[in-house]
Amino acid sequence: MNISSVVALVTGGASGLGRATALRLGKLGARVVVCDLPSSAGATVAAEIGGNAIFSPCDVTSEADVTAALDAAQAKWGVVNVVVNCAGIAIAQRTISKKGPHDLGLFMKVLTVNVGGSFNTMRLAAARLSETEAGADGERGVFINTASVAAFEGQIGQAAYAASKGAIRALTLPVARDLSNIGIRVCTIAPGLFKTPMLASLPEQVQTVLAQTVPFPQRLGDPDEYARLAVQIIENVMLNGETIRLDGALRMAPK
Ligand SMILES: NC(=O)c1ccc[n+]([C@@H]2O[C@H](COP(=O)([O-])OP(=O)(O)OC[C@H]3O[C@@H](n4cnc5c(N)ncnc54)[C@H](O)[C@@H]3O)[C@@H](O)[C@H]2O)c1
Repeated sequence: MNISSVVALVTGGASGLGRATALRLGKLGARVVVCDLPSSAGATVAAEIGGNAIFSPCDVTSEADVTAALDAAQAKWGVVNVVVNCAGIAIAQRTISKKGPHDLGLFMKVLTVNVGGSFNTMRLAAARLSETEAGADGERGVFINTASVAAFEGQIGQAAYAASKGAIRALTLPVARDLSNIGIRVCTIAPGLFKTPMLASLPEQVQTVLAQTVPFPQRLGDPDEYARLAVQIIENVMLNGETIRLDGALRMAPK
């Protein structure tokens, strides 16, 4: 798909990997809906991109919010044909600890936001896309999800997070298969350690130690490196149904 024909919904677009993707897509001429919580800096990111971006305050787990974001894009530019799911939350809690068993509500919340939220945007966007004219190769759209290396090597305290990311990895192929007859591709990026606000807030020394665990290049990833892979996935029609690790050969240890 040509970036100039893209109308993208970028969830988690106010921060980190989503922000970098929204900025890069905007710079390349795509129309971008920055979708993030009302309390986020989504409006600032949309303003930074310029006239080809809007902010739609949105909780990805809400059908009404995602529908409103898709409506806003459609009214301005046409049907959303690219979804980049970057909204996500991370927690650290062991299965049992001195405080007792893992909080079940918290476990379910991580699954709801990370997996449920990603699936919610895809199912709602796909329903609309199915009614549009197909482009070259019969293609109608591209969905990109964000897993994590925790989908493969979850660490101590990552039961909920790793389960959610493993589920995102697992749904990539079946959703790609489900949508193949209407020309929508689905890929997932599994990032290693990226310098987003979450990691950048750690002391410099901790960041250095984390960076040393990456075989090569021995540093934290730049969010724009994620964004560039997202662009490649959009442009390369043969990429479909796959989860791509973006991690400098990092393989996480138990802790
Ligand atoms: N940074 C890393 O090293 C790294 C590594 C692997 C995977 N990831 C994944 O990449 C994604 C982006 O991470 P990041 O580092 O950019 O994090 P971040 O915290 O900078 O950004 C996440 C964004 O998601 C938004 N969000 C959270 N819940 C939401 C909801 N219910 N509805 C809408 N928006 C919501 C937040 O407001 C925030 O703006 C996450 O799914 C994360 O798990 C990040």
